[in-house]
Amino acid sequence: MNSHHDLTPPANPPVIWITGASQGIGEAVAIAMARAGMVVAASARNVERLAALANQSTDLTGSIAPYPLDVTDQAAVKMTVDKIIAQHGGIDQAILNAGTYIPSPATGFTSDAVRQQVELNLMGVCHCLEPLITYMTGRGKGTIAMNASLAGYRGLPRAAGYGASKAALINMAESLNTELSDVGIDIKVINPGFVKTPLTSKNRFPMPFLMEVDKAAELIVKGMKGRQFEIRFPRIFAAILGLLRSLPYPLYFWLIRKAG
Ligand SMILES: NC(=O)c1ccc[n+]([C@@H]2O[C@H](COP(=O)([O-])OP(=O)(O)OC[C@H]3O[C@@H](n4cnc5c(N)ncnc54)[C@H](OP(=O)(O)O)[C@@H]3O)[C@@H](O)[C@H]2O)c1
Repeated sequence: MNSHHDLTPPANPPVIWITGASQGIGEAVAIAMARAGMVVAASARNVERLAALANQSTDLTGSIAPYPLDVTDQAAVKMTVDKIIAQHGGIDQAILNAGTYIPSPATGFTSDAVRQQVELNLMGVCHCLEPLITYMTGRGKGTIAMNASLAGYRGLPRAAGYGASKAALINMAESLNTELSDVGIDIKVINPGFVKTPLTSKNRFPMPFLMEVDKAAELIVKGMKGRQFEIRFPRIFAAILGLLRSLPYPLYFWLIRKAG
C-alpha cells in the first residue's frame, strides 16, 4: 500500500445507483460512496442540485454522475437504468432511497396523503426494482437496499400513510430476500430512526436520538459492505422500537398513548 492509495481509484470501481440523492441521506451517502472510490449514479428530480453534487465530487477518489429522474415515472426509471448500465458498464449496487413523509393526523385522514406516499415511497421503489432485478438476475450478482424506516415496524401516531408505505417496503424486502439470494442478489433494508435532513427539519415534535446525516451515511456505507439484511440505527432507538414491535397489542397501545 503506498501513500497515494486513498487517492487512486480502484481499477474497476463498483457502480452504485442512489435515488433521492439531491439532498439529505441520499446526498450524504453519494458523497461517502464516492469518497470510498465508487462510481455513483445519482438520481433525483432537482437537476441543479444534482449538477452541484457532481461538481463537488471532482475532488473525491470516485465520481458522481447526475441522472435526473422522477421515480414515480415508471418508463423514465427503466430508461435511466438502461442509460446507467450503458454508460458505466453495469450497476453493482443500488440504494432506493427517494421518499417523503407527509404528516397525516387521523382526524384529517385523506386518501390523497396516503396515495402520494405510497406512489413515491413504495411504487417508486418498485419501478426501480423491476429493471434492476431483471438485470441483476441475468448477471447473477448485485446488491439492492431499500430505505424504509423504523416507523415501518409498527403503527405510530400521525404517520398512517408514511408508516403503511414503509411497513410495506420492509415486508417486500423480506419477501424478495428469501427468493433472490438464490440467484446471487442481496436484498437489504435500511431502517433509520430520526436523521437530521431537510425532511425532518420540518418536524415540530421531539425527535429522540436525532442523528447527524454524515453519521447515518457512514453506517449505510458500512452496512452495504456487510452481510446483514437490515441496516438500522441509531442503535438504542432501534433496539427500543424493535422491542415495542414484539409486544402484545394492549401493552403496545398503552405505551404509545402514554408517550403521546
Ligand atoms: N430523515 C429521517 O429521519 C428518515 C428516517 C427514516 C427514514 N427516512 C427515509 O430516508 C429517505 C431519505 O430521507 P431524507 O430525510 O434524506 O429526505 P429528504 O431530505 O426530503 O430527501 C429526499 C430525497 O428524495 C428525492 N425525491 C423526492 N421525490 C422524488 C421523486 N419523485 N423522484 C426522485 N427523487 C425524489 C428528493 O429530491 P428531489 O426533490 O430533487 O426529487 C431528495 O433528494 C426517505 O425514503 C425517508 O423516508 C428518513
